[in-house]
Amino acid sequence: MKINIVKDSKAAGQAGYKLFKEQLDNGSHVFGLATGSTPITTYDAITASDLDFSDCISINLDEYAGLPGTHEQSYRYFMNQHLFSKKPFKESFVPDGMNEADAEIKRYEKIIEEHPVDFQILGLGRNGHIGFNEPGTAFDSRTHKVALTESTIASNARFFDNEADVPKFAYSMGIGTIMDAKAILLEAYGENKADAVQKMIEGPVTEDLPASILQRHPNVTIILDEAAASKLK
Ligand code: F6R
Repeated sequence: MKINIVKDSKAAGQAGYKLFKEQLDNGSHVFGLATGSTPITTYDAITASDLDFSDCISINLDEYAGLPGTHEQSYRYFMNQHLFSKKPFKESFVPDGMNEADAEIKRYEKIIEEHPVDFQILGLGRNGHIGFNEPGTAFDSRTHKVALTESTIASNARFFDNEADVPKFAYSMGIGTIMDAKAILLEAYGENKADAVQKMIEGPVTEDLPASILQRHPNVTIILDEAAASKLK
């Protein structure tokens, strides 16, 4: 694991951007992408640059089941807003939340098989999750349907008109799927990620902390701000 500690999330976004540039310069053309607050500064640095992804493919990690891509809370919508509308890719895949589970899982794994991911960007959950793979998910899991935890549903409720509208399931690449990427960048910022960061890097490799599996990947870069790195020994 290469660990890069920078001052804040803005500096981290620049560092993330540089890795994307390096990957492009070295011929990578399939990019695995994430949503959430973490990658936004990296996407902002990319959209402000002259990087060109028009010959590249993007494959997102996850999507809520039951939400169409036009819904403001869908991950497809997020990606359009933060990246694709400004930096179009040749083709951008996001799980289709409206498709039936078995069909969607097969479709998505086939897409990944046909377009092996060269470079995957990840955020980190406070409990160590990557994608929607919560603690306890098998390390060899492939794309699957995930039941969201009660706490995730409750915390997402603020984004919806009423709690009944909050998705209860999601489709996510599995941990095995993520580990197949040739290179991985994980970014984490803020003090509330510091525990998960410490366990991911210094703790045992265990399914109780999904991101700890990254210790076994041959090409991982971790970009942290000072607060997220504050519990490293
Ligand atoms: C997003 C994803 C999640 C987030 C993680 C961190 O596609 O798969 O694993 O990366 O929950 O979220 P933020 O960045 O909002 O702290």
